[in-house]
Amino acid sequence: MSEVEKYIKSIPDFPQPGIIFRDVTSVTEDPEGMKLAIDEMDKLLEGVDYDVIAGAESRGFIFGAPLAYKNGKGLVLVRKKGKLPRETVEMSYDLEYGQATIEIHKDSIKPGEKVVLVDDLIATGGTIEAAAKLIESLGGIVVKMVFLIELTDLKGRERLSKYDVASVVQFE
Ligand code: PRP
Ligand code: ADE
Repeated sequence: MSEVEKYIKSIPDFPQPGIIFRDVTSVTEDPEGMKLAIDEMDKLLEGVDYDVIAGAESRGFIFGAPLAYKNGKGLVLVRKKGKLPRETVEMSYDLEYGQATIEIHKDSIKPGEKVVLVDDLIATGGTIEAAAKLIESLGGIVVKMVFLIELTDLKGRERLSKYDVASVVQFE
């Protein structure tokens, strides 16, 4: 397990009873925590052939942006519904708690483009699966999914078995 684990705070019963919330603000607020998180996520990208990074709003932007910058790639914003100004494609999905709709600009992804999806955390995998489907609907190819945290009991990895899924820290 990575050293970055010690920077992740676990808050029971947030945002609802029974959920243990894995908080990344305690990672990002610490210079060493932030550096470890980005460097270790970056290691998961070594040897991967890709054109662009796509980050899922909002915590996916925090980690997707420095990874894109560090690797000389662009960042596609996968946003919650209603935020993007031009023509979009959208998809609804269920979360560990609740429901959401995400969208991306129709011209964000070119057919054949190789995309790495980045988020802070995979729980059920619903968010990232919806993001992958949006990218694929535009002709993109999802070559890897990279997370700082994986909640293994929720079996997102099984749901996403057709993708290459990688995470830095795992919690049951
Ligand atoms: C959280 C997290 C992931 C998603 C993981 O985002 O950042 O995107 O849930 O859950 P899943 O694997 O079950 O889909 P949230 O929708 O809470 O939005 P936020 O990043 O804006 O806080
Ligand atoms: N997103 C979905 N489930 C989560 C959890 N348990 N902690 C933090 N973010 C989450």
